[in-house]
Amino acid sequence: EKGTYPHYMLKEIDEQPLVIRNIISKYQDENGQVKLDEEIRHAMNAADRIYIIAAGTSYNAGLVGKQLIESIAKKPVETHIASEFLYNMPLISKNPLFIFISQSGETADSRGVLVAVKKLGYPALTITNVPGSTLSREADYTLHTYGGPEIAVASTKAYTAQMAVLSLLAVDSAKAQGFELDFDPIKELSIVATVMETLCDQKEALEKIARDYLSVTRNCFFIGRASDYYVVLEGALKLKEISYIQAEGFAGGELKHGTIALIEKGTPVFALATQEHVNLSIRGNVKEVAARGASPCIISLEGLNAEDDQFVVPKVHEYLTPLVTVIPMQLIAYYAALHRDCDVDKPRNLAKSVTVE
Ligand code: F6R
Repeated sequence: EKGTYPHYMLKEIDEQPLVIRNIISKYQDENGQVKLDEEIRHAMNAADRIYIIAAGTSYNAGLVGKQLIESIAKKPVETHIASEFLYNMPLISKNPLFIFISQSGETADSRGVLVAVKKLGYPALTITNVPGSTLSREADYTLHTYGGPEIAVASTKAYTAQMAVLSLLAVDSAKAQGFELDFDPIKELSIVATVMETLCDQKEALEKIARDYLSVTRNCFFIGRASDYYVVLEGALKLKEISYIQAEGFAGGELKHGTIALIEKGTPVFALATQEHVNLSIRGNVKEVAARGASPCIISLEGLNAEDDQFVVPKVHEYLTPLVTVIPMQLIAYYAALHRDCDVDKPRNLAKSVTVE
């Protein structure tokens, strides 16, 4: 039920702090330690390489998942688009683990890969919001994202839930390998939930950004580097699917290799600047586009921000920054769609779960 909310999407954006707290409580033991199923721990331990397979927003979560697992659990990870995987199959390592990420658990493209890898005898884990779903039933193991029903076609809380669960999977695997961790995921995810609340309270400021930058434009760009790049891909996807503005996410350094030709006077460029090691270079990219007439909107992290940045996000642990920076992106997309009279919850040409190849 939407209750007092005008749209499911807005309700689901606001539910994100709750979902994160729910995940924390479901995946901790009585001592406040992360605890996943033994079998999943063993499957992670046995894997020499992990292949994440997903589509759309879940693929974007998988990109962040690659970074989480590689940084925390020190296992090599490849993230692949489900619909391409079988046509462009990489060499598979000796002991792979396939991880399918799917909100619905019904995506045909992902299922096609699952069926193929099971035939080859490889183990598979599904991370899904729907435990009884096809992908969950057909995989060896399931991790539940505990997001509750996601009704709006545009995925929001499922994405942050997937990343939270991936962070726990990475931590569990690191612990199983005996690594010393300087990262307490339970504590850090609680901070994330609180920061999410703060961000959800800033709807007016984000509505104004959507109005100022996106009321009339036909296209726009999102840029970021390192993990910000993965989040801008999601920001652009959200905006495209519900507002019909042509939005493209780019790695900051890649724009100048061609796409910068599309920058005109007034083209909105959203830049995400939340990491110290790329702060100067992404701001350099902003200057490049501004010099060509673009209207930049910088979303930065507290402590790394410049005085005139348009929106500043409070700091959380660097591994988990994507869980909070996506919220301004989701809300900007929501308000842009609203201002343009689009059907926010049921965008044209889209279905909630894509069960055809
Ligand atoms: C974007 C969106 C789609 C889905 C994609 C995968 O907002 O909803 O891109 O993320 O179709 O769906 P699942 O996660 O159900 O496999």
